[in-house]
Amino acid sequence: MSYYVTTPIYYVNDAPHIGHGYTTVIGDVLTRWHRQRGEDVWYLTGTDEHGLKVLRKAQQNGATPQEWTDRLVETEWKPLLELLDIANDDFIRTSEERHEKSAQAFWQDLYDRGEVYKGEFSGWYSVGSEEFVAEDDVVDGEGDDEGHKVSSLDGSRVEHVTEENYFFPLSKYADRLLELYETNPDFIQPESARNEVVSFVRRGLKDLSISRSTFDWGIQVPWDPSHVMYVWIEALLNYVTAAGYGVDDERFGELWPADVHLVGKDIARFHAVIWPAMLMAAGRPVPHRVFAHGWLLVGGQKMSKSKANGIRPDEIVEVFGSDAYRYYFSRALTFGSDGSISWEDMRARYHAELANGFGNLASRVAAMIGKYFDGTLPAAGEHTAAEEALVALVAEASVEADRAIDRIAPQDALAQVWRIVEALNGYLTEQAPWQVAKQADEAAQRERLATILVTAAEGLRVLAVLLHPVMPRATASLWESLGAEPALGALADQPIGTVAQWGRLPEGSVVTKVPSLFPRLEDDA
Ligand code: ME8
Ligand code: MG
Repeated sequence: MSYYVTTPIYYVNDAPHIGHGYTTVIGDVLTRWHRQRGEDVWYLTGTDEHGLKVLRKAQQNGATPQEWTDRLVETEWKPLLELLDIANDDFIRTSEERHEKSAQAFWQDLYDRGEVYKGEFSGWYSVGSEEFVAEDDVVDGEGDDEGHKVSSLDGSRVEHVTEENYFFPLSKYADRLLELYETNPDFIQPESARNEVVSFVRRGLKDLSISRSTFDWGIQVPWDPSHVMYVWIEALLNYVTAAGYGVDDERFGELWPADVHLVGKDIARFHAVIWPAMLMAAGRPVPHRVFAHGWLLVGGQKMSKSKANGIRPDEIVEVFGSDAYRYYFSRALTFGSDGSISWEDMRARYHAELANGFGNLASRVAAMIGKYFDGTLPAAGEHTAAEEALVALVAEASVEADRAIDRIAPQDALAQVWRIVEALNGYLTEQAPWQVAKQADEAAQRERLATILVTAAEGLRVLAVLLHPVMPRATASLWESLGAEPALGALADQPIGTVAQWGRLPEGSVVTKVPSLFPRLEDDA
C-alpha cells in the first residue's frame, strides 16, 4: 500500500511562522503513523517561488527573485524541517528545472487537448493572495489602505489589470465537479469546507485567466514565451511534477493520485475546484482527498505574515523542545477547525500532560525496575482483573487511535493514547508496587511486584510505539530505556497494527534510567 501526502508549497516572500509549521507537523504525524502501519509513504513539501508577491519582496530587498528565494529556502524554510523533525521524502522548489520541464509538459498537453484559449482579461488582482478578485468583492480601503481598493475576502489590496492572456475553460467543469463532490463525499473535508466549495461551484464558475505577460518571474508558457504561467496554475502542478509527471511515467503511476493534500482553508477552493478541473481536463485522476484545516488564532486574530503577528516556530521550540511543539499542535487543536493558541495553554499542557502525565510515568517505572529488579525485566506472573482491564483498554484505545488517523483527527488519536497514559498512572496508584515490596511473604511479593512492573513496562512499550509519530525524540529515549531494541528492533519499524499484543518485551530486557523526557522549563522558577 502506498500513501502519498502533501503540504501546500509555501510562498517564500518571508520566513515561516507557526501556521506553516502546523500543516507540516500534521503531515509528518500522518507520514510517520502510516509508515508504522507498514505502508509505503511519500511525504512531499516545498516552496512556491514564482509570482508577483515573491518578485516584489525580492525587489524591495535589492535582490533578484532567484537570489532571494535561494537565500530564504536555505536559511529559513529547509531549517524549519530540521527544527521540527520533519521526515519528508522530497522538497520541491518551483524554481527547479524538474518542476519547470514537467509543468510545461502538462501545459502543452492541455493546449494540445484544446483546453486553453486566448482572450482578454480585465479585472482586479490581489498580489497578497495571488488571486483574481471579482468586481463584487472589491471595496474601498480604509485606514492604511485609504485611497486603495481592497478585496473584501481577505482585506488585501487589489490592482486593476487589463491584458491579453490565456484562459482555462473552468466554467465547463462545474457539473463534473459537482458530481465529484456528490459521488465522493470525502473529496473535500471537513464538512464546512465541503459545503463552502459546493455552494461556490453551484453559483457557477467563470473561466480562469492562467498566464501573465507583464513580468517574467515565472515559467514560460511552452508555445508562447512572451507569457509566464499564472503562479497558482503552476504551483498546483507541484504535486504531479514532484511525482514525475511527464518525465517518469512509472514513478508517476505508482504515486498518483495523491491520498491527501493537506491545506489551510484559505486555499481550499484552489485545491478542490481549480485543481481537479485541471486534472480532468488533462484526463488524469483527481486526488483522493483534500483536507482543509482551520486558522491558528493568536489573541483571537488569524496569524499571518502580513499582520506581523506571526510567531516563529523556533521561539516555541527553544522553550518547549520540538516534541512538545509537535504534541501541542497535534493535540490542542481540532484539525479542521480554527483554534486559539497561547503560551499559557502550551505551558499548562506541557506540565500536566507531558512532564507529569507521560514523562513521570516513564521515569517511575524505569526507576522501580532498577530498584526492585536491578534493571532486568522479570517475568510476569498471573494477570489479575486489574491487568486484564488494562490490556483490554490498550487494545481498544489503539484501534480507536488508528481510526482517528484515518479521519485525519490527530487530536482524537492523542486523546485515545492519553487514555492509556491515564490508565497506567491509575493502575500504578492502585497497585502501589512500593507497598507490595514491603509485604512479608517474599515469594508472593516478588511475583506480584514483577507482574505489576512488567505490565507497566508493556504499557510504556505501547506508548513509545503509538507516540513515536508525534514525539520521535522522547519516544526514542523511552525505547532505549526499555531495552526494547535488541528483541523488537528499531522503534520506527514497530507496527501499529499489533502494538496491543501483550508480552512483547522479553524477560531479561535491560531497563535503564530514562533521561528526563520533558525537563523542567527554564523560566519556571
Ligand atoms: O497559499 N493558521 O502559500 P502560503 C493555520 N503558495 N495555517 C496557516 C496559517 C494560519 N494562521 N497561515 C498559513 C500559499 N497557514 C500558496 C500555496 S499550494 C499549491 C500553493 C498555512 O505561504 C496553511 O497551510 O500563503 C495555509 O494554507 C498555508 O500556510 C498558506 O501558505
Ligand atoms: Mg497565504
